[in-house]
Amino acid sequence: MTWDRDSWREFNILQQPTYPNLKELKEAEEKLKALPPLVFAGEARSLKNELAKVCNGEAFLLQGGDCAESFTNFNANNIRDMFKVLLQMAIVLTFGGGCPVVKVGRVAGQFAKPRSSDYEEVNGVKLPSYRGDIINGFEFDEKARVADPKRMIEAYYQSASTMNLLRAFSRGGLADLHQVHKWNLGFVKKPEIGEKYAKLADDLTKTLSFMAACGITSANTPAINQTAVYTSHEALLLPYEEALTRVDSLSGEWYDCSAHMLWIGERTRGINDAHVHFLSGVKNPIGVKIGPSAKAEDVVALANKLNPENEAGRLNVIIRMGADKIGENLPKILRELKREGLNIVYSIDPMHGNTVKTSNNYKTREFSKILSEVRSFFEIHKAEGTRAGGVHLEMTGKDVTECTGGALNITESSLKERYETQCDPRLNADQALELAFLMADLVKKA
Ligand code: PEP
Ligand code: CO
Repeated sequence: MTWDRDSWREFNILQQPTYPNLKELKEAEEKLKALPPLVFAGEARSLKNELAKVCNGEAFLLQGGDCAESFTNFNANNIRDMFKVLLQMAIVLTFGGGCPVVKVGRVAGQFAKPRSSDYEEVNGVKLPSYRGDIINGFEFDEKARVADPKRMIEAYYQSASTMNLLRAFSRGGLADLHQVHKWNLGFVKKPEIGEKYAKLADDLTKTLSFMAACGITSANTPAINQTAVYTSHEALLLPYEEALTRVDSLSGEWYDCSAHMLWIGERTRGINDAHVHFLSGVKNPIGVKIGPSAKAEDVVALANKLNPENEAGRLNVIIRMGADKIGENLPKILRELKREGLNIVYSIDPMHGNTVKTSNNYKTREFSKILSEVRSFFEIHKAEGTRAGGVHLEMTGKDVTECTGGALNITESSLKERYETQCDPRLNADQALELAFLMADLVKKA
């Protein structure tokens, strides 16, 4: 069948809300369709070119952000702190790993969440599950859990405002490499990490002075005081994605202008289902999550459908198998995709396969498991002669206590201190930076 931005409606679809008021849904869709795009197609093409470099082993992909953005935690400080950690990690990987880093936020649109169950039950009361602020409310009450299409409009405006700030930070001086000392967030507490970062910042400052003496300054080399941070989210709520999908006036091609990059989740990657069909028709770079149950032939079929022209930079396969399963499952997949000659950006999401429930009922992830899956990912690629291209993380610039372990050794009993996520547990700024230092060595060796 031919593709159009609404042709996904003919397909089987999973993980969608049931809107009780279809008239309001239609109104919200019409309103979104008339609103300006959040990104420009040319920017999505630039990201695709950057990802082609990752595919060829000339750059590394760093993708990260909240599990779910929320309406209540939306403020400038949170966006700034996330931006800073992402940049700090990128500096560590660029300088320590000796490799350019493509920065992609899970931000400015990461609102809709797939759920393992349609209902949530607390003390005998059963309500529809929370599906992300773009769909319904987090509070456990009947009214909040009703799917409200007007939330799509609020998500759009929050995304526009976030995008605006990210663009300002990227070009307005905050990303200037001369500022790297100041990026250190007040609470990078563990002396070893703080000192390691201060040393790196010193080395970088010396390098910049040397370069300036050679005539290389921000006046002739904008990369010194500007950067590009791209946006991405899971393209789960298709009425929202459809409404922001537009024909690019330059190329005449369809782009989903809700973000530079979109991905398909582990639960919605059915080859004949709506999500795969929808993203097969837009030209953005796209990702697909691959969990432990995926067979090599499933991934080959997805690659052929989502990237029929085998374009480098178009398709990011995001591995999320878990530290204990990656060793058994990933090699077969890499071998088969290599044999087929498919151009793929491989990245590792070491978060979603390592989620556990503590005895005190917190959803958490242990830092050592996260690190272990990342390490295995690099080792397996080395053994198979393929490329470990990047990492995909749930993280925040805030000093939360959601994942256990790390240099500060967050324990199960301290999780309750600052457990703020509405969905999955995130690395805090310390843990994210620690992981970047550990990954820099792996990137350098690779
Ligand atoms: C996510 O990235 O938040 C997510 C739900 O991941 P997955 O589809 O891999 O479970
Ligand atoms: Co998540």
